[in-house]
Amino acid sequence: MERLKDSIHFIKIESIREEKCLEDCAGLTWKSYRPFLEAAQCDNRLALAACAGSVPVGLWLSARTPSEETPKTHTLLSLFVAPEWRRRGLATDLMQAAEGELSALGISSVTTSYSSILPGADAMSCLLRKQSWAEPVPDRIRICGRVGDTFATSRAWDLLLKRLQRQGVRYLSWEEAGDGVLEQAAAMVDAGEAPAWSDPRPWKDALSAEFSLAIFDGAGGLAGWVICERQEKLGRWYFPIGWVMPPEQDRGTLVGAYLEGSRRIQTGNGASALAVLEASPRQGRAWRLFEKHFSNFALWSDRLLISQKDLGIEPALLFE
Ligand SMILES: CC(C)(COP(=O)(O)OP(=O)(O)OC[C@H]1O[C@@H](n2cnc3c(N)ncnc32)[C@H](O)[C@@H]1OP(=O)(O)O)[C@@H](O)C(=O)NCCC(=O)NCCS
Repeated sequence: MERLKDSIHFIKIESIREEKCLEDCAGLTWKSYRPFLEAAQCDNRLALAACAGSVPVGLWLSARTPSEETPKTHTLLSLFVAPEWRRRGLATDLMQAAEGELSALGISSVTTSYSSILPGADAMSCLLRKQSWAEPVPDRIRICGRVGDTFATSRAWDLLLKRLQRQGVRYLSWEEAGDGVLEQAAAMVDAGEAPAWSDPRPWKDALSAEFSLAIFDGAGGLAGWVICERQEKLGRWYFPIGWVMPPEQDRGTLVGAYLEGSRRIQTGNGASALAVLEASPRQGRAWRLFEKHFSNFALWSDRLLISQKDLGIEPALLFE
């Protein structure tokens, strides 16, 4: 197969002046990432186009990971090569060029996550392996379904909710629980009583106060929470985080929270409103329970595969 070295050149998006070329670049990524191609985002992202003449045929898009703990990490958001240019080493060259750019910026590692049901998922996994990224592993499961179907997934749910009620477990929306709940949850994370991944602070501005739930145990103490976000463009409700304290973990308390969330969404938005529940192995038995029960009625479910690569920056560079 013809190699491309001589016919392809790489251009950073900010160097592109022609509107048509920018439009073509936008066609090489998801619509929701379009804002990342615009100039205002320049500081935090790398958008590198592979062009054949003046026509963009491949695009790398990565952005600074929005976490104070990992200021020197980029997240690869999308990598795309136009179908007629595939299997000619273009993604390989694009990746190497991008990794070089990131190293020069002092970025020490890149992470990525992609859906197992993307048509290009296998190709992506092979590409990452070949480029010495960490072996892609399934990290989270996402289950999308109609809220009205949630209760149909098991006849045991009514009994479960009644038992939880008898035990004094209560679910209050963040709105009902009041402002203090975020601070209380954050304090539990800071004190190591709740895991870092459950931290609600990054979701503070995005979360739905109506459908995110605070979970209280029989003694009235905050025992966990579920975060719900409205994804307007995708027309769905998204549950990225759900956590309960260890004593509640084997009692169905978290499952109860998702049932309660679905019920509330159904009341306000109808039975066909869509919800996406995301669960991870770090939720212990709960994740297998979600998979077992909720996947049956899902419209779709997938795994998010994650991988990472260290860019081999000298430590001294990190503290410039
Ligand atoms: C994944 C993708 C970017 C690869 O682009 P590409 O330019 O064809 O990749 P390369 O030619 O550099 O391939 C490098 C290696 O990746 C692997 N690979 C690429 N396409 C593959 C495929 N269809 N099946 C299996 N392995 C594949 C191979 O190991 C290949 O090396 P080889 O050709 O020597 O066997 C491209 O297929 C694509 O744009 N897919 C759709 C978008 C997508 O799913 N992106 C990933 C998630 S954001």
